[in-house]
Amino acid sequence: MKRTTTFAIALAGAIAVSAAAFAAGGEKPADWNVGGGEQDEALNLTPDLENGLEVYEVCAACHLPEGWGSRDGTFPQIAGQHPKVTIKQLADIRALNRDNPTMYPFALEREIGGAQSIADVAAYIQTLKMNPEPGLGAGDDLEHGAQLYKDNCVRCHGENGEGDNDKFYPRIQGQHYEYLLRQYVWIKEGKRRNANPEMVEQIKFFTDKDTTAVLDYVSRLKPPAEDTAPPGWLNPDFE
Ligand code: HEC
Ligand code: HEC
Repeated sequence: MKRTTTFAIALAGAIAVSAAAFAAGGEKPADWNVGGGEQDEALNLTPDLENGLEVYEVCAACHLPEGWGSRDGTFPQIAGQHPKVTIKQLADIRALNRDNPTMYPFALEREIGGAQSIADVAAYIQTLKMNPEPGLGAGDDLEHGAQLYKDNCVRCHGENGEGDNDKFYPRIQGQHYEYLLRQYVWIKEGKRRNANPEMVEQIKFFTDKDTTAVLDYVSRLKPPAEDTAPPGWLNPDFE
């Protein structure tokens, strides 16, 4: 397949870039949403969905054509994410405000283009229907998880984990449990440098048991039916 070949070639060339960019090991915490640069540029452009699909072919190698990622959490679901969130995360990853050595080389301007491509791919990603069968937690402490969610998360991520495009709050409903866990721990421990400091403050007293309970609950929050694909759906844009 053409896409696989392109990916293999890109991967071979990319490793050197990645190693150089991460050798310095940025310790300094990034401000969570300073804006500026490519983020602001992309936010002010009119997206072109056709180019968004073209760009997305690079992303599909890891996030899959459906944008569903992997149930083991190696790759997040990105389907249905709010465009402002995707724009911010891409701009942060490109500016090294969020470390993502696996993806970094593929997210660079020379691979996918500038701010316009960021806007385009973010718009395309939002059109993808979400995974009806994400990876879940153990399911043994959901009442505790529900209470913790209500008390600590609703004010930003919303009743049902829907997030808020205008505030750059990610949609977390139906995300793979293992991915939620990894990001959450990195946010709590300061490893994810673009984290929201108010969230860090909010969760600082969470025990490990609290953490697994609340994220198990989040992984089971269902996106609205109209945003969810049937099981086994394949993205027709990739046929
Ligand atoms: C080589 C594999 C790979 C490719 C190609 C790739 N990604 Fe990723 N991406 C990842 C991994 C791994 C993560 C999760 C990193 C982590 O755990 O912090 C990720 C995370 C993300 C996130 C953050 C999601 C969140 O929940 O915060 C976004 C957005 C994203 N990718 C978009 C893209 C887009 C858009 C493209 C194409 C331009 C792309 N990715 C290409 C591997 C990849
Ligand atoms: C003050 C607002 C706020 C609160 C409260 C909050 N969050 Fe967040 N959360 C955010 C923002 C903003 C981000 C994205 C930060 C960024 O841009 O990288 C985020 C990111 C996340 C992520 C990573 C998502 C991804 O796609 O990578 C997870 C998981 C998460 N929050 C879970 C929770 C849970 C569970 C709670 C409650 C225990 C919570 N958050 C409370 C604002 C908040």
